[in-house]
Amino acid sequence: MALTTPATRPANPRFSSGPCAKPPVWTLDKLADAPLGRSHRAAIGKAKLSAAIDQTREILGVPADHRIGIVPASDTGAVEMAMWSLLGARPCTMVAWESFGAGWVSDVVKQLKLDATVLNADYGQIVDMGAVDYDTDVVFTWNGTTSGVTMPNGDMIPASRAGLTICDATSAAFAQDLPWDKLDVTTFSWQKVMGGEAAHGMLILSPRAVERLESYTPAWPLPKIFRMTKGGKLIEGIFKGETINTPSMLAVEDYLVALDWAKSIGGLPALMARANANAQAIFDFCASRDWIDNLAEDPATRSNTSVCLKFTDSRITDGAAFAKAVAKCLEGEGIALDIGAYRDAPAGLRIWCGATVETADIEAMLPWLDWAFETEIAALSAAA
Ligand SMILES: Cc1ncc(COP(=O)(O)O)c(C=O)c1O
Repeated sequence: MALTTPATRPANPRFSSGPCAKPPVWTLDKLADAPLGRSHRAAIGKAKLSAAIDQTREILGVPADHRIGIVPASDTGAVEMAMWSLLGARPCTMVAWESFGAGWVSDVVKQLKLDATVLNADYGQIVDMGAVDYDTDVVFTWNGTTSGVTMPNGDMIPASRAGLTICDATSAAFAQDLPWDKLDVTTFSWQKVMGGEAAHGMLILSPRAVERLESYTPAWPLPKIFRMTKGGKLIEGIFKGETINTPSMLAVEDYLVALDWAKSIGGLPALMARANANAQAIFDFCASRDWIDNLAEDPATRSNTSVCLKFTDSRITDGAAFAKAVAKCLEGEGIALDIGAYRDAPAGLRIWCGATVETADIEAMLPWLDWAFETEIAALSAAA
């Protein structure tokens, strides 16, 4: 069968799940205002860092009584800092439904050696968040980037609870509504939905999380880059832009450019609408094909950022090889870069749909997915 290639190509083939596509208006010269070669503790550096915090608060609607800090080591740094500083004061529940959540479980059980209750779900499924004991501290990942399964909302988390909720929201922040009254610690990095640069983590603390920090000292030592208190009091400077160690002012400027863009298009509702439209284009595509499906089993839990897909055609005998071949084929044509499933996830594709991705690019890419699928199926038959 002769397979004709689609006429239209995506203007931007970047569909990686992190680092993610830069905002559509982004150009390198937009970073010209970065105070390079200046101290981050000089007035200009501090002003940039506190602007990043203030604009994050404004766009995400973070309540005034929550602290927002820029911390080292990206989202991982923020999550680890929270877990090592806060856990151990009371029983804890570790919840995971994909690889990153599983990583936090393993750290708490094997490194901190806490006797945690562990709740796991397989790829494609979600843990019943209504069955969790919120009088324990609960650690979970809002949007499972490697399975494309997300919390539909925070309704299952009681507003009144004795434990803290520690939420890795790195692939949800700026694309989904996060209920701040249900989250005591929220973390994310700049390189996901905002298309920023990596290496800096965002740590958002509720007043109850601060109270824990000021009233509890963990049994284990804390390295300098995890320490948020001094003499039993919160180091408030961290949450005003006085970072623990040196940040990249180039990355800060880049984040400010992304935040400006977000504001210019209408803030959080516009960011969420863009992610929703992108994901919906893929959901519609899958609904009208019998060879591809969303990995998330319950439609209510389908991510609007990291959309994970599996091939369901019975002619495919080696799922991993087939998915790799399709991803390679699309990459080779310059149509879709970095869309293979995460290394620990079931075979398939993962297409980033966060706000910086243009819906027109998703729509231009999908006919090529038809083409790549048919091409690789034809190759299978030829080899048989
Ligand atoms: C859910 C989740 N948690 C943590 C991380 C690690 O983030 P970082 O590399 O910013 O530390 C990722 C990266 O993709 C992620 O998707």
